[in-house]
Amino acid sequence: MGQLSVCIETVHIEGYGPADRSPARLPEKKGKTMFLDLISQRRSIRRYDPKPVEGEILDKLVETALRAPSSRGLNPWTFIFVTNPDTIGKLSEAKPHGASFLRKAPLAVVVCANPGISDVWVEDAAIASIFLHLAAADLGLGSCWIQIRKRMHNEKLSAHEYVAQLLGLPATLDVDAIIAMGYPAETKNPHRKNSLQYEKIHYNQYGRKNQ
Ligand SMILES: Cc1cc2nc3c(=O)[nH]c(=O)nc-3n(C[C@H](O)[C@H](O)[C@H](O)COP(=O)(O)O)c2cc1C
Repeated sequence: MGQLSVCIETVHIEGYGPADRSPARLPEKKGKTMFLDLISQRRSIRRYDPKPVEGEILDKLVETALRAPSSRGLNPWTFIFVTNPDTIGKLSEAKPHGASFLRKAPLAVVVCANPGISDVWVEDAAIASIFLHLAAADLGLGSCWIQIRKRMHNEKLSAHEYVAQLLGLPATLDVDAIIAMGYPAETKNPHRKNSLQYEKIHYNQYGRKNQ
């Protein structure tokens, strides 16, 4: 079995069978400043239009997740793409704070990884999450990270355990984050350049402020 088919097996799309995932192409963009423009505009979006995320957009997000770099190329992650509104509603209760807005999102990507495959699975999962976050922005979607790792569902159950039970995850997988996505129903001003914390930048040695 080739590497590509191994990777594809790590993606599960709730509500989308393989026959529904046509390899439709989106218009390509050109220009070397596109990425910098994108990140200078990007904000976390927590209000979404109910419009579903189309299959071809979902395909782009799937490909993005699988293109994320990982330590030693071990790809310890697994992604659950959730479009079922009932499941999304239950995911929005994964933790008491900072997840309720997920209820009205048409798409949630649950980013998991297997700590038995890589000791730096947290970094690998976080990189894949930020790839998804930025790809969503590029595709015209709003998105927001919902932290699951090290968070509690209630006094007894961790947020990871709650999500794992809900989605039937194997015991080998830990949940790092959920990325909520949907077409934006709010606009936010970009962070202004003069609000960036330039005091945290040093050149060559701590304390040196000139390039
Ligand atoms: C590791 C990480 C965890 C986060 N967890 C949550 C979360 O659980 N809930 C939430 O609403 N936002 C969460 N966020 C979004 C941050 O609150 C947001 O990125 C930050 O306030 C800066 O706002 P901006 O993304 O609009 O620039 C998280 C972001 C990161 C990077």
